[in-house]
Amino acid sequence: MTTRRTRWQEAGNSGKYGKRFADLVSAGEDIDGEARLADTLLPRGARVLDAGAGMGRVAAALLRRGHDVAAIEPDEALVRQARETYPGLPVEERDILDLRPEDGPFDLIVCVGNVMVFLAEDTERDALRAMRSALGENGRILVGFHLQDRPPHARAYPAAEFEADATAAGLRVDLRAGTYHLHPANDAYGVWILSRAQDGTGG
Ligand SMILES: C[S@@+](CC[C@H](N)C(=O)[O-])C[C@H]1O[C@@H](n2cnc3c(N)ncnc32)[C@H](O)[C@@H]1O
Repeated sequence: MTTRRTRWQEAGNSGKYGKRFADLVSAGEDIDGEARLADTLLPRGARVLDAGAGMGRVAAALLRRGHDVAAIEPDEALVRQARETYPGLPVEERDILDLRPEDGPFDLIVCVGNVMVFLAEDTERDALRAMRSALGENGRILVGFHLQDRPPHARAYPAAEFEADATAAGLRVDLRAGTYHLHPANDAYGVWILSRAQDGTGG
């Protein structure tokens, strides 16, 4: 099991994020935007992993849409919150870096809401490789994070650097957009759809 502390753990963001989403759930607000895009990428009843699931909102929304969903999240408090908020959702206390091919094959891995900028330092390529290893033949990864106005303690991760890391990890950039509604790419936020590169480079 991976023991390196994530930027998220170092930042101590868990309580604030957890409360914010608990309040949004109580108020009946729409928190399914990422899941709606994810759903359009999938056949019905697909196998999906939410990697860095937080309090489980995206995974739960995909479960409601009929997919076979697993969620992993290393923050113990958020795992507890996810299980309490969404009792039917299978959530494991686990790090992306511990993903193995036998965890898959997934049709889609969702890694949204700034997970990539809260990984432990210098683990981005390893995290992308680990996710790639659990993808099915035609599987894809949906990624999204802030390029500007990022949350406190999140790393700056320029789009070009992220795409170079994805390529080095054996992934291909199929699409880059600026929002989960697929507005054009912009400098503020990055949304990517990745798939396995054909030649399998990057391990
Ligand atoms: C801003 S929260 C977003 C949570 C969720 N994806 C959402 O959109 O609501 C960022 C999450 O990234 C997770 N994270 C950071 N490093 C991780 C890693 N190595 N493996 C899995 N999750 C990680 C944190 O624990 C935290 O839950």
